Amino acid sequence: MKAVSYEGVRNMSISEHPQPKLKSPTDAVLRVTTSGICGSDLHMYEGRTPLEEGTVVGHEIMGVIEQVGEAVKSIKKGDRVVLPFNIACGYCYNCHRGYTNACLTMNPEEPHAAYGYAGMGPYEGGQAEFVLVPYADFNCLKLPGKPGDEWEDEFVLLSDVFPTGFHATEQACVAPGKTVAIFGAGPVGLLAAYSSMLKGASEVYVVDSVKERLAKARELGAIEVDMSDGDPVRQIFNLRKKNRGIQESLRPGEEKMRGVDCAIDAVGYQARDDKDYTKEKPTQVFENVLRVVNPTGCVSLIGV
Ligand SMILES: NC(=O)c1ccc[n+]([C@@H]2O[C@H](COP(=O)([O-])OP(=O)(O)OC[C@H]3O[C@@H](n4cnc5c(N)ncnc54)[C@H](O)[C@@H]3O)[C@@H](O)[C@H]2O)c1
Ligand SMILES: [Zn+2]
Ligand SMILES: [Zn+2]
Repeated sequence: MKAVSYEGVRNMSISEHPQPKLKSPTDAVLRVTTSGICGSDLHMYEGRTPLEEGTVVGHEIMGVIEQVGEAVKSIKKGDRVVLPFNIACGYCYNCHRGYTNACLTMNPEEPHAAYGYAGMGPYEGGQAEFVLVPYADFNCLKLPGKPGDEWEDEFVLLSDVFPTGFHATEQACVAPGKTVAIFGAGPVGLLAAYSSMLKGASEVYVVDSVKERLAKARELGAIEVDMSDGDPVRQIFNLRKKNRGIQESLRPGEEKMRGVDCAIDAVGYQARDDKDYTKEKPTQVFENVLRVVNPTGCVSLIGV
C-alpha cells in the first residue's frame, strides 16, 4: 500500500509499505478514505520530537472497515467509521474513569497511545491506504452515510480537532452566558470557539495574527483579536471596556473583572512572542491565559 512517512526534518515521503494484517482477534483493518494533517504533526515534521525515520504518520483517520478479528462484535466489514486519535483499551483504570487519552495498557513506555505519533506507542499512522485498529470495538465510532458523501470532510473532524476543541471548553467550564478567550485560531482554536457558541457563551474572543483564520473566527460569530495590533490581553480588556452593554450592566465591584470567565490555550509551546512575532516564546500563551482570566475563572491548556 501507499503511505506517508517521516524521513527526517521537513522531509516526508509517499512510498510503498506493507499492508497491515490482523495481529489479535480484537483488531480490525481499516481502508482509509480521509485523513487529516494535525497541528501536532507539525511538531514532528519540524524535527522537534524523537520520531523514528520511516514511521507512517497521521492520527486523524476515517474510512471503511476492510476486515475484523473474530472477537470484534460491534463493527463489521463495510462499516463506515472514524477513529478517535487516542488508542485506548477501554478496561484499564484510566479508561474506566474516562481518561482514554491516558490509557495505561496500550503503550509499554507511557500512559497514552496514538496512531503514527512520537512517543505514543508502536502504532503506524493513517495517512495511508490501510491502518490497523487495535480493540476495534472500543476505538471505532460508527458513522452514517457513504465514503465521499457531503459529510466526508466534516466527519473527519470528529477524530481529533472537534472533540479536542470541545474538550477545551469543558476544561475551561464554558457554559451559557460565560465569557471566553481563545488563543490560537488554528482548527483546534476555531472549533473551541464554535463549541463555545454551541454552549451559549455570551462573548467569545479569538486571538491570532493570521488574517484568514481570524476571518473564519468572525464568520463563526466570535470577536477577532489581532495580536499584531499589540498586547492581545489589553485588547480584550479594552474591547470589554468599550462595550456599553457590558459596562452599563455591571454590579458593584464588577469592573474589577476586566477579563473573561474562561481562557483557552490552543497554541502550545510554539507560541509566537507578542513583542516580536518573528520569535518563539514557549510560555507566551500560558502567561496570557493567566492574565486574561478573571478571579474565579477556569483555564484550559489544550495546546501541546
Ligand atoms: N491536546 C490534544 O489532544 C491536542 C489535539 C490536537 C492538537 N493539539 C495541539 O493544539 C495546538 C493547536 O493545534 P492546531 O491544529 O489548531 O495548530 P495550528 O498550528 O494550525 O494553529 C496554531 C495557531 O496559533 C497561532 N499562534 C502562534 N502564536 C500565538 C500567540 N502567541 N497567540 C495567539 N495565537 C498564536 C498561529 O498563528 C496558528 O494560527 C497545537 O499545539 C497542537 O499540537 C492538541
Ligand atoms: Zn492531533
Ligand atoms: Zn486503557
